[in-house]
Amino acid sequence: MKLEEAIARRVREMLKEVPVHGWDHTLRVYAIAKKLAKKYKADELIVSIAALLHDIGRAYKGKRHHALISAEIAKEWLEDEGVPKEIINAVCKAILAHSFSLGYEADTLEAKIVSDADKLDAIGAIGIARCFMESTLRKRGISVTIKHFNEKLLKLKDLMYTEEAKKMALKRHKFMLYFLSQLKEELREATIDDDPQLL
Ligand SMILES: [Fe+2]
Ligand SMILES: [Fe+2]
Repeated sequence: MKLEEAIARRVREMLKEVPVHGWDHTLRVYAIAKKLAKKYKADELIVSIAALLHDIGRAYKGKRHHALISAEIAKEWLEDEGVPKEIINAVCKAILAHSFSLGYEADTLEAKIVSDADKLDAIGAIGIARCFMESTLRKRGISVTIKHFNEKLLKLKDLMYTEEAKKMALKRHKFMLYFLSQLKEELREATIDDDPQLL
């Protein structure tokens, strides 16, 4: 069995119960990352493995950042498979750099591609769907969810590295703006401002 397939099986098993950042998200990130890797002639093996493993740490509950756990698991699994050290290091680098909050700089083409693919899955129609799924889990209402768009999702288009991802991100960004303006209009229509008893 190819290394990629073996890893995909293990990841699918571990992430099958994880919503929002689970197996379907991983698979989309993998697909987009692979396309970008081909387009930019990046190392496809490094990109593929990093994309498959980038959120594996989400399978574990706890306070540690999921990207740190993902990088540790990647190192362990790849060492067991006898993968050369340089590849393992490049994969771990890309995994650590994919996170918005961890603060690592994506300084290789492969890390940039994985970061772009992951961020593309957080915006556009998919991003909206995932954001509301997350809100349900966190018991956030619509108005708090709108805040999350402003604080994070609407900033992601400016964090893309590759030109192709920037193009894709812009289209997805515009769709989110359209969605938000419609959502806000509907919320305004449904506002009661002359009945203090209900407020
Ligand atoms: Fe992540
Ligand atoms: Fe992710």
